[in-house]
Amino acid sequence: MRNKVTKAIFPVAGLGTRFLPATKSVPKEIMTLVDRPLIQYAIDEARAAGIKEFIFVTSRGKGALEDYFDHSPQLENELRKKGKDDLLEILKSTNMDSGAIAYMRQHKALGLGHAVWCARRLIGNEPFAVILPDDVIAAEKPCLQQMVEAYEKTGGNMVAAMEVPPAKASSYGVLDVKEDMGSMISVKGMVEKPAPGTEPSNLAVIGRYILSPYVLKNLNKIKSGAGGEIQLTDAIDQEIGSERGVYGYRFRGQRFDCGSKSGFLQATVAFGLSRDDLRDDLHSYLTDLMATEQAAQ
Ligand code: G1P
Repeated sequence: MRNKVTKAIFPVAGLGTRFLPATKSVPKEIMTLVDRPLIQYAIDEARAAGIKEFIFVTSRGKGALEDYFDHSPQLENELRKKGKDDLLEILKSTNMDSGAIAYMRQHKALGLGHAVWCARRLIGNEPFAVILPDDVIAAEKPCLQQMVEAYEKTGGNMVAAMEVPPAKASSYGVLDVKEDMGSMISVKGMVEKPAPGTEPSNLAVIGRYILSPYVLKNLNKIKSGAGGEIQLTDAIDQEIGSERGVYGYRFRGQRFDCGSKSGFLQATVAFGLSRDDLRDDLHSYLTDLMATEQAAQ
């Protein structure tokens, strides 16, 4: 029987320079979409997919992340004393079972592949998921859960995939398609950040992966690739041709690039509009704003 996917790696070592000065003292992953930090969306998605062990690959200055997932006895006592059961309930999503969460330090910023490799001893010989918290995906069924269900049928290695405009392909890992079967895409090559005009397709890898432990073995000996970094894409590419193979998975949902300011703002509006307690106010504000802008043109 195929091993269940119960471990996920969250690479969170990046400096978040695109969000300076905010990220001078706040880890990027703690920045909030409405009232939840980016990392909470990633954790909720992992939980929905059946993940039981959460491995964070961090770096210096990410202490706020560790505190976020810790119990907060003083705050909880205060809320209890005041009878704020609704807020206590909200805090529950930030609590982790003892031993369910682990932090590894990536001592040097050598790339995404290197960050994932840092967690190799905690993964052992099992398939595992990788979630990049910058990629926030709004979906009826959470993206990783869709992938786990597909993976139960195919096994192998699976990466989330999405069509992007050709001019944007050079910002992504890009799939060379062997066979497009609709939601599943069989892959014959993967290129990280192809030079403009050389992309093998417009199917980009989005930050959700289910990988075989062989990818970690490949990372043992991989050389630096695009941008001089050790690339996860290159280690997955080496799995093509193995009996496991590599599949792209066209997920159902809307992806926001919260690593960019514009994507972050769009996600803030979209998540605000999806909330019962905020929709009406936000909607009428946006409608008035658009009307004023149009009148001024
Ligand atoms: C990373 C991956 C890339 C993938 C992208 C998705 O790139 O290396 O293959 O397409 O995430 O967001 P980064 O955005 O870290 O440069």
